[in-house]
Amino acid sequence: MTWNIAVLPGDGIGPEVTTQALRVLRAAAERHGIELTISEALVGGAAIDAVGEPLPEATLTLCKRSDAVLLGAVGGPKWDGLPGHLRPERALLGLRKELGLFANLRPVTVHPALMAASTLKPEALRGVDLVVVRELIGGLYFGEPAGIEMRDGEEVGFNTAIYSTSEVTRIARVAFDLARLRRKKVTSVDKANVLAVSQLWRKVVTAVHAAEYADVELEHLYVDNAAMQLIRRPADFDVIVTGNLFGDILSDEAAMLTGSIGMLPSASLGGSVALYEPIHGSAPDIAGLGLANPLATIASVAMLLRHSLRAEAAASSVERAISAVLDAGYRTGDLLIGADPAGAGARLSTSEMGSRVIEQLAADPDPATAPTDPIHASVV
Ligand code: IPM
Ligand code: MN
Repeated sequence: MTWNIAVLPGDGIGPEVTTQALRVLRAAAERHGIELTISEALVGGAAIDAVGEPLPEATLTLCKRSDAVLLGAVGGPKWDGLPGHLRPERALLGLRKELGLFANLRPVTVHPALMAASTLKPEALRGVDLVVVRELIGGLYFGEPAGIEMRDGEEVGFNTAIYSTSEVTRIARVAFDLARLRRKKVTSVDKANVLAVSQLWRKVVTAVHAAEYADVELEHLYVDNAAMQLIRRPADFDVIVTGNLFGDILSDEAAMLTGSIGMLPSASLGGSVALYEPIHGSAPDIAGLGLANPLATIASVAMLLRHSLRAEAAASSVERAISAVLDAGYRTGDLLIGADPAGAGARLSTSEMGSRVIEQLAADPDPATAPTDPIHASVV
């Protein structure tokens, strides 16, 4: 069978990082006997410039017909002045919503070779291996009413934080199912000391846990405390489940454990076709310069292989190749910001980093086919 992959490079560094990730995807597919048809489409600012809207119908149709979607990044100063519904970011929100991708998995692993690249002390980083499970199509991002309007002679802006019992239940199940495959611990993050929406969130997570997941440990943290604990004792976390906005913020914070936001991949699951993207943005300041780190997008390809193509052996071979490249001391510039003697003198461009990963892939011993990640079954 042939898998259809839609690729949406987008804006800024998006095209550079997706080009490298696609090279890796093709190499891994070839090695593991996976047949791919890859189709590109416009998204974000690139789509606005070409056809006048951030998420053209043709792009959405292609995505819906595909087996998986790989996206680079959207947005940039060029389009910042546009009204809300025409901004590049709309495309991303529209895709997530249209595809029903309620579960966003953002794994955070600290490569031993990158300990020195983080601004945190190595003692704090040892053993860090967590996943942020972010609810992706509800909460403050999508709640109605939302807008800017005149009230009592002045403009007011407003959004609605809203979660239903069924929305919380389904994301909680994803988190608990994932925890069962890992260290069996879920931390649910909310602001239940203040927000009604969080009080319901906590009540529902607690009920789902009691009814279906007594074998998994559950703790609740307020988001302010969670933000602190995440840098104080990051190794204690296993699965963090939270709403859309808190998940957005905490996953950027968690990225700093790894040394660079250029390291964090993501998978958005829950619909009939899943979306894979690095968690970083379009970084317009370095776009086109070959400075971007492609590893987050390459790691997103590994997640695509795992969750959509059910190709665990290929997925883990990509992840091992990334580790091997880092162990060998290769770094893009973002990973050299901290004092990192191991990386000094080995600064690679975006495409050189892609090439190193492909070399390591070719050197990877062919592993026995590993079992398919069962998380797939529960959420897609
Ligand atoms: C992310 C991004 C997006 C979000 C933006 C670009 C709309 O920050 O994927 O984390 O807020 O979800
Ligand atoms: Mn974000």
